[in-house]
Amino acid sequence: THMLEHPAVQQNLKVLRERGVQTLEPGAGYLACGWAGKGRLAEPDEIVEAADRIVAGRRTLEGRRVLVTAGPTLEDIDPVRFVGNRSSGRMGFAIAAEATRRGATVTLVAGPTGVQPPRVGELVVVRSATEMRDAVMTRVAETDVVVMAAAVADYAPGVRESQKITKTGETLTLTLTKTPDILAAVGTWRRERSSGRPVLVGFAAETTDLLARARRKLVGKHADIIAANDVLQPGAGFDVDTNVVTLVGPDWEQALPLQSKALVAQALLDAVEALLDGRPIPAQGPTPGSPEATA
Ligand code: PMT
Repeated sequence: THMLEHPAVQQNLKVLRERGVQTLEPGAGYLACGWAGKGRLAEPDEIVEAADRIVAGRRTLEGRRVLVTAGPTLEDIDPVRFVGNRSSGRMGFAIAAEATRRGATVTLVAGPTGVQPPRVGELVVVRSATEMRDAVMTRVAETDVVVMAAAVADYAPGVRESQKITKTGETLTLTLTKTPDILAAVGTWRRERSSGRPVLVGFAAETTDLLARARRKLVGKHADIIAANDVLQPGAGFDVDTNVVTLVGPDWEQALPLQSKALVAQALLDAVEALLDGRPIPAQGPTPGSPEATA
């Protein structure tokens, strides 16, 4: 109780509450230190009830089916080697977790990663781009929203050697062939049916010419939103807990600040919900300095 009442602890609690953190009052009674007073762990039932109340606060995707892709794909060269990338899955996992929190039934299609995925309705673990394509396309008809945050390999070895390639010459040449473009496949599937479903969100991981390239992907892959991700910015992109993205739609842009992937997920799903409900998305117009702004 003395620790709880200490001005430093009280000040820290005040700061946390000001930042929006919700706290639960401790119980009172006999304490482990030998004193009686306030400072006991709240009863488990109270904690669960409070957590339920917070989580149930915004069930805005109740009844919707959301499919999220996350992580890398690994393309095997031989039984021990592969072509891959640095995606940890964190961005896609944050979107899957937020959609679940909002009441959606979530399918998470994840490439191999060491990060623990969130609890979702269905977790499908895949390895290659082809496996990811199959997992997505067999579910697309029953899905309201598809968000593709995975870093899918664009090229893969045409042949997977059945034996480990032995070291012989000074160089080794691999022939890579294009993988299926899953985002474009969903966009085309939807277009062929003249359907607005599923709402389709892709990412664009770029190192230059960010917004122009994102716009080309939006149009070329028939998506509704592209989250343009400058992966060279500090705190953005692969294998970090934060990200900096600009959401790009046909006639709008929303530049989001550097923030946690959880907050990026919230902003992205707010935009998705607006599309599902036919509401306008609060546009910021072209980002100052972009080709659209200077045209
Ligand atoms: O996983 P993290 O460590 O959290 O990192 C997050 C991230 C950087 C991977 C993520 O924010 C991100 O930018 N994901 C997209 C990475 C990517 O592959 O971008 P791209 O510009 O190459 O692809 C464009 C879009 O097409 C993406 O939605 C991608 O999923 C999709 N794609 C790409 C190739 C392919 N063969 N099929 C696809 O569907």
